[in-house]
Amino acid sequence: MAFPVPFLLLLLLVALLVVAATRLWDHVFVRLVWRPYAITKGFREQGIHGPSYSFFKGCNEDIRSMKEKTDGLVLDVGDHKYLPRIAPHYLKWRAQYGEPFLYWYGPQARICIFDYELARQILSSKSGHFVKNDAHPTLLALVGKGLGFMEGADWVRHRRVINPVFTIDKLKIMTKTMLDFAQNMASELEAEASQSENGETRVDINKQFSDLTVDNIAYAIFGNSYKLGKQVFQAQTEMLGITMATFLDVPIPGIQYLPTKANRRKQILERKLKSLLTQIIQPRLASGEYGNDLLGVMLESCTEAKQGGKQVDGLSLSMEEIIHECKLFFFAGHENTAFSSLGQCICSAYTPSGKNGSGRRS
Ligand code: HEM
Repeated sequence: MAFPVPFLLLLLLVALLVVAATRLWDHVFVRLVWRPYAITKGFREQGIHGPSYSFFKGCNEDIRSMKEKTDGLVLDVGDHKYLPRIAPHYLKWRAQYGEPFLYWYGPQARICIFDYELARQILSSKSGHFVKNDAHPTLLALVGKGLGFMEGADWVRHRRVINPVFTIDKLKIMTKTMLDFAQNMASELEAEASQSENGETRVDINKQFSDLTVDNIAYAIFGNSYKLGKQVFQAQTEMLGITMATFLDVPIPGIQYLPTKANRRKQILERKLKSLLTQIIQPRLASGEYGNDLLGVMLESCTEAKQGGKQVDGLSLSMEEIIHECKLFFFAGHENTAFSSLGQCICSAYTPSGKNGSGRRS
C-alpha cells in the first residue's frame, strides 16, 4: 500500500518534533531543573547543605560578585592569608553551611571539602567514581585536550608514550640546562646591579621567574626549537586572559562559534598556536630526526604507528593529540612553577638568614 506524499511529510514532521521535544526535555528539564533539585535533596538528607541553585547559572553570579569585591584587595607582602582574596566564596559558604558543602558551577554540582585526609583518599582512589570535570570550552582551547583532561585507556596510552621523557637519566640532562638558564638570569641581574652606584637594582621578580620557567619548559618540550616554542607560550598567555574573563560564564553549547570579539580573537590565536607548532614539527618530520625532547618522543610514536614499524600496540599518538599535549605541558607547567619559585623567593627574602645574603629584600 502506497502512502500519499503529504502524509509521509507529516509523519516526518511529527518524528522530528518528537526528537526535538525529547532532547529539550533531557537538556532543559532533566539537566537544568530536575537533576539539580534531586541532587540538592539527596545531599540535604545526608546533612550536606549549601547555597541554592539558580536556573542554568548555578552559583556563578554569587561567586562573580564576591570575587569582584575582593579582587581589589592588596595583601601585605608578608600576609599568607590569601584565601579571602582568591576564594571568598569558599570561606563564606563554609562559615554559613559548614563543611563539606554543596555548590553549583552552572548546572554542575560541586562538593567543597576542606579535610586533607579526605582529599588524599579521593585523589588516590582507584574506584573510578571520581572523574575529571568537563572542562570549559575556552579552557580546552587554551590548554588542549591532553593528559590533564583524560581518563582510562586514553590516559594510559598518553602516559606510556610520554613517561620515557621523564626518566631520571633524562631529568639529569635537563637539570644541567635548567641550571644554565638560572645562572644566566642571575648573571644578567648582577650585571644590571653593578651598573648602578649603590650596586643594587630593582627588578620585577615575577616576570623574571615567569621568563625562566618559559625557557625551561620550552627547552624540555621543544629542545633546540625552544625559541619558536616560546612564541607558543606568548599566544597561550593572551588566550589565558580571554579564558579568565569568561571563566564564570556557563558554557552554552555552540556559543564558541558566535562571531563575538573574544571568539574571533580566540580563533586567531588558536590558528597561530597550531601554525607555530606545525612550523616546529614539519622540519623534524621531513628530516626524520625527531629529537630527544618531549616532542621528539611523541613524534616517534606517531610516525612509527603510521609506518606500521616496530611500534607496540596502543603506543601511539595522533598529530592532533601531540599538538594538544604540547599546549597542555606548557600551561600545566608554567603558572605553578613560576609562582612557587616566586613564593619561595619572597619567603626567603622575609626570613632573615644572615650569611648568604638570601635574607636581603632587594
Ligand atoms: C610547582 C609545580 C607544580 C605543581 C604544584 C603541580 C601540580 C599538579 C597537580 C596537583 C596535578 C594533578 C592534577 C589532577 O590530577 O587533576 C598535576 C598534573 C600535571 N602536571 Fe603538574 N605541577 C607542577 C609542575 C608541573 C610541570 C613543570 C609540568 C610540565 C612541564 C607539569 C605538567 C603536568 C601534567 C602534564 C599533568 C597531568 C598529568 C596526568 O594527568 O597524568 N606540572 N600537576
